Parts: sequence; structure tokens; C-alpha cells
Amino acid sequence: MDTLHVQILWQIMEALRESNQLEDALSNCLDLFCKGTNSPKGTIWMLDDQSKRTIAITVYGTSDATGESAGMGEGLVGRVIESGESELLNASEVQNLKLAGADSPGITGKNVLCVPIKTPKNIVGCMLLTGKEEPYTEDEKTMCEQCCAILALDIEDKGFAFRPFEEREPIVTVRNVVKEFMNGEEVRQVLKGVDIDVYPGELVVVLGESGCGKSTLLNIIGGMDRMTSGEVVVEGKDMSNPTEDELTKYRRDYVGFIFQAYNLMPNLSAYENIEFIAEISDKAMDSMEALKLVGLDEKADNMPTALSGGQMQRISIARALVKNPKIILADEPTAALDYETSIKVLDVIEKISKENDTTILMVTHNPEIAKMANRVVKLRDGKISSIRVNLHPLKATDLVW
Ligand SMILES: Nc1ncnc2c1ncn2[C@@H]1O[C@H](COP(=O)(O)OP(=O)(O)O)[C@@H](O)[C@H]1O
Ligand SMILES: [Mg+2]
Repeated sequence: MDTLHVQILWQIMEALRESNQLEDALSNCLDLFCKGTNSPKGTIWMLDDQSKRTIAITVYGTSDATGESAGMGEGLVGRVIESGESELLNASEVQNLKLAGADSPGITGKNVLCVPIKTPKNIVGCMLLTGKEEPYTEDEKTMCEQCCAILALDIEDKGFAFRPFEEREPIVTVRNVVKEFMNGEEVRQVLKGVDIDVYPGELVVVLGESGCGKSTLLNIIGGMDRMTSGEVVVEGKDMSNPTEDELTKYRRDYVGFIFQAYNLMPNLSAYENIEFIAEISDKAMDSMEALKLVGLDEKADNMPTALSGGQMQRISIARALVKNPKIILADEPTAALDYETSIKVLDVIEKISKENDTTILMVTHNPEIAKMANRVVKLRDGKISSIRVNLHPLKATDLVW
């Protein structure tokens, strides 16, 4: 083993020691594997003992494979899980290679390395690396096998339970979305080809530094901004090039928005701010019920000026909720609030996600908030840099920053 491999091995053990949760361990290790082998893309797949399907749960790089699954023997992943043997394929050998099931996209002309994550007794999953310029080497394969063996032992040792993702249709599908702005004479790409699937009932957090394109992405999904190219499909309906009528209906009936600035009408009471939206939507819930859900039914008659920032934000959540939308889009909902008020607001978001089973896509630059998500999508410079599944999301009230 050369020095680099010893270093990676050491870093993996370090990362495992620091990880208290399976998803952290997997995600941290995958980062190290991808960086250590110069792989732009990587995925860790875990075998669900009950269904005998292997499910992608942690992704590095741009593709959204999370939620994809492979049966025994199905595609490259299914083969490696069944045989327990690594596969190292050179670009020239790869022709329409299915990574998972028959419906998964086939890849051609890519270098690929797929290594089982196994203990001497058990196969628990596999790691797939791809997209590297040069072919993977036997040395890299050996290094990955050794590290994955350590990872497998650690998973067994800590008794990490793996609760698989249900297999279901996404409610929102975003494909290759590009957004360009003119900057004087120059074209500036703010979104450079984004792919995401959002599943019903999920709380997805989009995390990224200021200026990386989070709001732009959310506004495109919410029909408030138009993309330059790409595809957005919501519940099977193509919203890539909507007419004004479709857009109005979509914004009115499908999506609820929560913004950093609460945008309440100053001359309407808390109740009226909500009722005003309830009146124009087809399948609204009772406005008082929406107020109860955010714990502010007693403030119904207060004017916004008589409410605190956190209360105003909870009113704006009630306003988003009252339409019974399929999906709630929240853009930095706590950015203007202090810590304690933020937690109260996040607690309400958690409640509507769990109890109302509303699908929520929330954007933030605060990594701590990502810990309450079912899945975390990291956006960097207009591209997805990773997607991870939180098998054990934290409660909002347990977040600390
Ligand atoms: N209407 C616009 N015209 C030109 N540039 C824009 C416009 N909207 C956003 N941008 C630029 O796109 C980049 C991403 O913005 P945004 O999506 O708001 O980032 P984030 O929400 O992650 O902070 C920023 O550099 C911003 O200046
Ligand atoms: Mg923003």
C-alpha cells in the first residue's frame, strides 16, 4: 500500500470514530473515497434484509440516485451484492451498463469501480465510484475493499439499523435545470444542470452557501421564475413551459410559500391574512384550524405589528398551509430570527411535515437545520454536490447553533 492509501484508510477510521449515525459514517466515508480516487461521482447502496433490495442512500457528485434500488442480481449493484465480488470496469468495456434495475439509466464509456461493503459473514451494501478520467487501478480496488470491510465491521459493531426508503413515485422531478442571467454583455449560469426528486411526505433541506442558487432553484420549482432549460414535473404534470393560466393555478393550488421576510398584509389581522388566501383557493382548510396548527389560534385578532418575528413567521406558515398545498417551499424561513424563535418555527415545520404529511422543500445556509431533514441536498455553485439520506432526523428542538 502506498502512503496515500494508508492516509485514506486512517481518515476513514477517523471519520467512523466521529460518526454517531449511519448516514454520517457513510456520507463521510464516501466523500473520502471519491476525493481519494479522484471520482466525481459516488454512491453508497445498502441492502434491505426484508425486501432483499439494495437502495442508494448516499450520493457524492451530481446525480440523484437516492431512492433508486436494485433487486438481487439486477444491474451492476445487484450483481456485486449477490456475488460479494468487486467489479472494476474500464470505459471501453462499459456499454449501456445498468447500475440498478432495468429501468435505471444505462451508462456508456465510463470508468467504474463497484466494491461490496461486507464483513466475513455478511454483505451489507456496496459502494459505486464512477466518472474518473483514468481507469481505476487494482491498487485503488484493494484500498476500497479494505476500507469497505472496516466500514462494514463498524456498521455491524454499532448496530446501525437501516430503514429503507419506501419505493414510490416522486411528487416533484427536476431534471437538468439550467438558469442563466445576463450580466451586462455576459451570460452567467446560476444553475448549471440540477437534478432532484422529491418524494411525497419528505422534508428535504437544500443546503448551500449564500449565492449558490438556492432561491433561484426554489423559485423555479414554485413557478415564480422561469428556467432557461430543463424539466420540472409535478405529480406527473410537466411544468417546464407552463402557460400563464397553468402557472397561476399551480401557484394557487399546489404550492405554499414561506419566505425569510414574512410578507404579511399589515392592515389585516392574523386571521384575515390567512382567510384572504383560503378564500381564493379551491380546497382550503379552515383558517382557524391553520392557526391552531401553528399554535397561534389565540392571536387570531392581532395585527401583524402586535406579533413577534417568530409569531409572524408562524402566521406565514399557517398562510402557506391553509391552501392544503401538495408541497411547501420554504426559503430560509428562520434567517431573520434569533435562535430560540428559529427553533419554535422549525418545530412547527417539523409538525406539519410529520402530522400533516405535507411535502416540504426548505432552503437554508445553516448546516445544523439540515439535521432535521429526511434528505439533504447540497448545492454548490449552481450544481448539486451531494445528496444524503438522514435515517434518523433530529427533532427541531434538539438542534443547536
Ligand atoms: N434576477 C437576477 N438577475 C441576475 N442575477 C441574479 C438574479 N437573481 C439571482 N441572481 C444571482 O444568482 C446567484 C444565485 O442567487 P440565489 O439563488 O439568490 O442564491 P442563494 O439563494 O443561494 O443565496 C447570485 O449570484 C445572484 O446574484
Ligand atoms: Mg436565497
